[in-house]
Amino acid sequence: MAIETSVNGKPVTFHVDDDTPLLWALREELRLTGTKFGCGIAACGACSVHVDGEVVRSCSVPVGTVAGKSITTIEGLGTPEAPHALQTAWIAHQVPQCGYCQSGQLMAAAALLSHSPRPTDAQIDAAMTNICRCATYVRIREAIHAVAGTSAGAVA
Ligand code: FES
Ligand code: FES
Repeated sequence: MAIETSVNGKPVTFHVDDDTPLLWALREELRLTGTKFGCGIAACGACSVHVDGEVVRSCSVPVGTVAGKSITTIEGLGTPEAPHALQTAWIAHQVPQCGYCQSGQLMAAAALLSHSPRPTDAQIDAAMTNICRCATYVRIREAIHAVAGTSAGAVA
């Protein structure tokens, strides 16, 4: 069936079954492969995107439920020419190691800052539940603080 939506500011019609995971619609139909598959059970966060500004785990969101909604993927967060402030901070703090989880981490961090522009460590820890097998959690926290202008944000 045809599912009308918006992805990264552009109108998109998905031609997939409405119970297809949003992750697969993004990756297979649109070739937006920055959003990653990790677990498929909403446990790791590698597939995080925004739907109407809220972070969701797209592996577990049926595409039929996002009809008429606005989706943002990592490809829409920033560009190499005009990176999002978080992407700049991620580079400055050398957050990515293997990098696999980082698009999801960035989407989760962007959603956090949209709700809590100056988050505490506790708020960061509560919001950033994405898993990183390279254990970049301390650097993620530092980079978020750097963008927020809060403590622990200085580049070492
Ligand atoms: S792939 Fe979606 S949460 Fe792990
Ligand atoms: S940077 Fe390797 S899994 Fe997070």
